[in-house]
Amino acid sequence: MKTRAANELPPSQKSDFIGGHFRSFRKDPTAFLTRQAALGDLSYFRLGPQPAYLAAHPELIRDILVVNNHKFIKGRALQRAKSLLGQGLLTSEGDFHLRQRRMIQPAFHHKRIAGYARSMVEYASKTADSWTDGATLDIDREMMQLTLRIVGQTLFSANVEDDADDVGRSMTTFTSLFNFLLLPFSEWLQKLPLPQSRRFNAARNTMNALIYQIIDQHRRSGTDKGDLLSMLLIAQDEDDGTVMNDEQIRDEVLTLFLAGHETTANALTWTWYLLSQNREAEAKLHAEIDDVLQGRLPSIDDLQNLRYTEHVVAESMRLFPPAWTVGRIGTEDHELNGYHIPKRSLILMSQYVIHHDPRFWENPEAFQPERWEKQSVKEAGQKFIYFPFGGGVRRCIGESFAWTEAILLLAILAQRWKLRIVPEQKFGLSPMITLRPKYGMRMTAEARW
Ligand code: HEM
Repeated sequence: MKTRAANELPPSQKSDFIGGHFRSFRKDPTAFLTRQAALGDLSYFRLGPQPAYLAAHPELIRDILVVNNHKFIKGRALQRAKSLLGQGLLTSEGDFHLRQRRMIQPAFHHKRIAGYARSMVEYASKTADSWTDGATLDIDREMMQLTLRIVGQTLFSANVEDDADDVGRSMTTFTSLFNFLLLPFSEWLQKLPLPQSRRFNAARNTMNALIYQIIDQHRRSGTDKGDLLSMLLIAQDEDDGTVMNDEQIRDEVLTLFLAGHETTANALTWTWYLLSQNREAEAKLHAEIDDVLQGRLPSIDDLQNLRYTEHVVAESMRLFPPAWTVGRIGTEDHELNGYHIPKRSLILMSQYVIHHDPRFWENPEAFQPERWEKQSVKEAGQKFIYFPFGGGVRRCIGESFAWTEAILLLAILAQRWKLRIVPEQKFGLSPMITLRPKYGMRMTAEARW
């Protein structure tokens, strides 16, 4: 491959007067990145003072996430999230991250997931019972509430409905103020007595108090409740036998709590939207669920037979990947696609862009769960043309939790209900931390029987 002069930049879009491309990026991030990708496999832009690159080819993404992962740390969004998540799995780096990952991994062992699956089934069937024929629902909120309850139960055996007000309110404040954390210069803004920073700090204090209380109760009870927190409390480093202190446990719990519900909720919301627009696929889904389950509730053992259901989820995460982009910052200079990338540059890799690229996907805009009969999720993942859960050593630790949850919840709810978009519903993407529907998702429930 041709190596260019050290100061030659990859192609770029015309920038705004000040702030580089920040304004156009913020205005419509997925459209901005799609335009960048049209410029070439590697393109350049600037977010305020931050030089940034988009790697828009699977091999370049593999280069960064897998082959040269050791040269990179997380992008700015996750660096900034440290003021919320501390040194949790999502935000920590290097050897410390590897140690934590090793200690936490057993909590996601297949046997533990089978236990969590029972909570998933229980809560999903309660949600299915709570809907009424003809009712109009905010499906995005319903899905968020359901996955929040499940993560509360599986993470620390807490019925978040009891604490829902406190936990829920602090979580909402946190995520909405997260946008504030991503503004240029927010490192400094956060130190000023602005209303946003005050609200952010207050929400953080409430969350901390709640989580320390839950950790304390677990420690005092001294039994394995089968939840994730019990595993974290007994986890030991295999080299030196040390356990995590309360602060580290707090960071991990909060990380799992945050990372563990919004993504899956969005995946399901988009799935309902897509099914309502694709009646043939919906009919096939119903046929499979009715055939496999014969009217009973599923268990984790049914997953192997719910193949079409799995393909519906896979296809939904192709079109609307809940984590729509991942970013890395170089800790040293790097050469990519023949270009010299100076250290401290930000490199973005977008699931949204790659999953819609016609070079890798036939008829990319069409919702076709059948395409997964020809190519498995694993095969597409190995080629890096499909990476909803990231890749390399920082790949999502909750992936099998998420697949289990999404398939079980979809099967349980679609067994009883069809959902139809209300006529006035507007469509739009809100790609902030996760890919949310910009105008929510109001749908009417129709009983299937
Ligand atoms: C559909 C659902 C989900 C999607 C699309 C998703 C996506 C992702 C992605 C793309 C990453 C990598 C981020 C990066 O490389 O910068 C990640 C990491 C992570 N996810 Fe998920 N996730 C999902 C569900 C979950 C669940 C259910 C949990 C926990 C119960 C979870 C916990 C985590 C954690 C702790 C990390 C950091 C892993 C590490 O760096 O070692 N995620 N997720």
